[in-house]
Amino acid sequence: MDVLAVQDLSVSYREVRAVKDVSFDVRRGEVVALLGANGSGKSTLLRAVAGVLTPDRGRIRFAGADITGWAPHRVARHGLRLVPEGRGLLARMTVWENLLMGQYATAAGTRRDLDAALERFPVLGQRRAQIASTLSGGEQQMLAIARALVARPTLLMLDEPSLGLAPRLVRQIFAVVAELKREGVTIVLVEQNARQALAVADRAYILETGQVVLAGPAPELAAGEAVQRAYLGGGPVPG
Ligand SMILES: Nc1ncnc2c1ncn2[C@@H]1O[C@H](COP(=O)(O)OP(=O)(O)OP(=O)(O)O)[C@@H](O)[C@H]1O
Ligand SMILES: [Mg+2]
Repeated sequence: MDVLAVQDLSVSYREVRAVKDVSFDVRRGEVVALLGANGSGKSTLLRAVAGVLTPDRGRIRFAGADITGWAPHRVARHGLRLVPEGRGLLARMTVWENLLMGQYATAAGTRRDLDAALERFPVLGQRRAQIASTLSGGEQQMLAIARALVARPTLLMLDEPSLGLAPRLVRQIFAVVAELKREGVTIVLVEQNARQALAVADRAYILETGQVVLAGPAPELAAGEAVQRAYLGGGPVPG
């Protein structure tokens, strides 16, 4: 069953159309990757789904409701969590306060979910009282994911979680995504690291200037020539 079904969605910034007639869906327990070059509309798409931007046209169905045009807090309360580009942490609050805010104004999530988040990310457990802005980039990303998880979202959307992180931390982020997938968490993953995203995803959509140009099972896309050339840096072998 579809958790999320986006149909013919178009989104603009004033006169600039950033997303054009995009349709995609996510089934329960899937990891779906959204890939594409800089400026292809990935973040715009996620923001529109989360209610941060209002689409010009199209429909968004999520967890049994038509959420098109809903305010972000209402979408969040319905079980959809976006970890935005840049993480969106409450910079002057502590790790623990950020986690508490993750449960603010939602019915979901208990004290046990807070403890579980600190166990999943031991580095956060050691830094409960530290101010979020003083965490390292990797720690901030862990906190942003943890803050989304404590509300037990039906769908977790991650916008470039590995952006700007050292290779070791990139691997750690992808390991977290793989672990969440094993636990059955439904995830939409936007990534520049196409190869690693396709390795963890079930299916993927490729965006180009605001439109879906290719979609399919992740292993097929990873093996496909078009994707290799365009996004994986694996051009034709010379000779
Ligand atoms: N606030 C904004 N105002 C005007 N145009 C915007 C705004 N945000 C994004 N755009 C434009 O919309 C298009 C899509 O941008 P978007 O941020 O969705 O791309 P993206 O795929 O997330 O790129 P990146 O990989 O760099 O994060 C781009 O042409 C961008 O310049
Ligand atoms: Mg983006």
